Amino acid sequence: MITPRSSASCSRREFLRSSAALSALIAAPTILPSSVFGRNAPSNRITLGIIGCGNQSTVDIPEWLKNDDCQIVAVCDVNKASKGYKNDQQYLGREPQQKFVNDAYAKKTTSGTFKGVDAYVDFREILARPDIDAVAIIAPDHWHAVMTVMAARAGKDIYCQKPLTLTVAEGRDMIAAVRKHQRVLQTGSQYRSHAIMRQACELVRNGRIGKLQRVETYVAENNFKGPGPGWKPMPVPAGFDYDRWLGPAAQAPYHHDRCFYRFRFISDYSGGQTTNFGCHSNNVAHWAMNMDHTGPIEIEDMGAEFPAKGDLFTTATKVAFRARYENGVVLECKTDKLSFGATSHGTEGWLRVLSRKIESGPESIAKSPLGPKDFRLPVSENHYRNFLDCVKSRKDPMEPVEVGHRTASLCHLGNIAMQLHRKIKWDPKKEQIVGDAEAAKLLSRPLRAPYNYEYPLKA
Ligand SMILES: NC(=O)c1ccc[n+]([C@@H]2O[C@H](COP(=O)([O-])OP(=O)(O)OC[C@H]3O[C@@H](n4cnc5c(N)ncnc54)[C@H](O)[C@@H]3O)[C@@H](O)[C@H]2O)c1
Repeated sequence: MITPRSSASCSRREFLRSSAALSALIAAPTILPSSVFGRNAPSNRITLGIIGCGNQSTVDIPEWLKNDDCQIVAVCDVNKASKGYKNDQQYLGREPQQKFVNDAYAKKTTSGTFKGVDAYVDFREILARPDIDAVAIIAPDHWHAVMTVMAARAGKDIYCQKPLTLTVAEGRDMIAAVRKHQRVLQTGSQYRSHAIMRQACELVRNGRIGKLQRVETYVAENNFKGPGPGWKPMPVPAGFDYDRWLGPAAQAPYHHDRCFYRFRFISDYSGGQTTNFGCHSNNVAHWAMNMDHTGPIEIEDMGAEFPAKGDLFTTATKVAFRARYENGVVLECKTDKLSFGATSHGTEGWLRVLSRKIESGPESIAKSPLGPKDFRLPVSENHYRNFLDCVKSRKDPMEPVEVGHRTASLCHLGNIAMQLHRKIKWDPKKEQIVGDAEAAKLLSRPLRAPYNYEYPLKA
């Protein structure tokens, strides 16, 4: 679907097209010389703001930098700079990542210097800039919905990391905002742009394993342990705006294990490995099952385990749930040493896809070529490139908002069934839990003011 840009983006483009304004901008220090971007004139470049300069930004920023029609003009993080992200030595935050991007662009200039990347504490400063086309949201999961809704309102296109949401209700809010403001949103489950995943899903979709009956999906074991019951609050480190980090989540005392990287093991901020790895593995499964726009009808716990009561960490230490779909296909998601991937079982064989390999029984299934009459999925070799192309074409990217929402919803429903240790029934059309008021309450959460959808856009 081709959708027009918002007035915010259009007016920027119109501004750039006026020759007087263009020469003024080219002379401005924040715009790189044309030698850096080859044929990509400033008016053809997508300007990007990075929101969240932690662990995953070390993967995403270099990917954006590979594209000479994209320019990172600003970064934002509530942490100025510190060690202690995925490992004790990982040194990150807005200043290190500002330097990283400036240095990368400096290498492309003849002078060897570049200082044009701005750094902000408050992401609304990025949203308020009319010269920024798109944002990459790499903040923790509990911020994704508010940032996405506000970015859409501000007329920005959005690359939002997976899991797209913290709750099912947030997904509907994000879909409404993206559609209303006609934005392009790519969910950051990058395996949608891996050829091996596409090949595996096409083999399943074309019936090479016969009629699909069951899909097993894998999530990694937790790679951190919580501080255990009796943990004590710590002083907030200098240079870290902790209240803004908490944002829409409930007020809570600071502890180092609450925030950088480890937030994913605390259900106030994330769904644990169920959503962390589950939004990769289950996303591939939904692609193979042709379930991108729907969901299961029944979800049950298969013996999940959780940390001790009183620990700071609250998400499952052992993930195990089963989901049944209207067509009878069953999906089983579990903690496994395989970490990530899916095995599809059919009436004539099975097929497993992991990060780098496909295997099957019988072996011939994985080697089976696809013919001209076979069904084909959309092709993308790079998730970031696909987003940039869609920002220009206004077409849907590989994983638009509804698809990211539906995968995340499956994971959230799995978490609800595991947390309550019982079977729940789900209406995938109405997106409601049927006949279980206690479970239904877990589909949404209050967003703490002022960091909710009413958060004024102007910083
Ligand atoms: N696609 C993938 O394979 C993949 C891999 C890892 C992480 N992720 C996702 O990326 C996101 C970030 O994960 P991470 O591992 O980088 O976490 P992280 O804790 O290392 O980094 C998150 C950063 O966001 C910052 N932040 C928090 N609130 C903010 C705010 N209001 N404004 C600006 N910055 C804010 C934090 O200070 C931190 O520096 C998560 O949603 C995670 O699921 C995706």
